[in-house]
Amino acid sequence: MSIETVRRLIRVAADEPGGLAVLTGAGMSAESGIPTFRDAMTGMWSKFDPAELASEQGFRARPQHVWDWYAERREGVRAALPNAGHRALGDFHRRHPGSMVLITQNVDNLHQRAGVPGMIRLHGDILADRWLGPCARHPACSPTEAVAGRPPRCADCGNLLRPGVVWFGEMLPPAAIDAAELAARRCRLMLVVGTSGAVWPAAGLAGEARRHGASVVIVNPEASEIDGDAQHLLRGTAATLLPALLDGL
Ligand code: APR
Repeated sequence: MSIETVRRLIRVAADEPGGLAVLTGAGMSAESGIPTFRDAMTGMWSKFDPAELASEQGFRARPQHVWDWYAERREGVRAALPNAGHRALGDFHRRHPGSMVLITQNVDNLHQRAGVPGMIRLHGDILADRWLGPCARHPACSPTEAVAGRPPRCADCGNLLRPGVVWFGEMLPPAAIDAAELAARRCRLMLVVGTSGAVWPAAGLAGEARRHGASVVIVNPEASEIDGDAQHLLRGTAATLLPALLDGL
């Protein structure tokens, strides 16, 4: 499948509101220096135990240990810069407001920093905090009254602050997954960039788009678990292929 053929598909999709849906995963930010999760040697889950670090049980068992790990990841996100792939999507969005719907599994803020403000975030935001549980004392714990610490906690009821991401075993934000499924059903073309397709329900979106008549194109240097849902596979990286696919359109 040639780049030129996919560019033609994008040109047609760009003429319609929501005509182009883009689903991104950790590979999108790999060339910005943010490690992926499952890449053999470099993936975070090859070094760390997700049950220990990305689950409520793990956090309750060792809150400081988990908080510190996220603090380190947050530093990495703040220090990272959008790569040429993020910028190509941001520029395309500026040229075609309303044509593209961006759905991301990523918890970094590189898409926003590259100029795609309103996107569907399936797995939350690593730079945001939220309370672990409901407050035992009053309607809601007030973040401003949180006692400093690792993690900070409510001065009144001891409730802990936790990173605003979706952990294993947790539900995705219903509004986000509903919007993503609607975008998948409505689009003419879905571009899937940098995901292994290992995590559901995000991994079901390409199939959903295909079942509703869309073309599905996957950008990934390696094979993914959802290659079967795509009509077109482009073996390459986000920062090289997205500018080639989107620039000038
Ligand atoms: N450009 C494009 N794709 C890349 C690049 C790159 N530069 N580098 C790696 N990839 C691909 C890999 O081949 C792999 O298929 O990106 C994919 C990354 O897969 P994962 O690490 O599994 O990340 P992702 O699919 O986003 O994981 C889904 O799992 O751990 C949870 O919540 C976390 O959102 C995450 C979810």
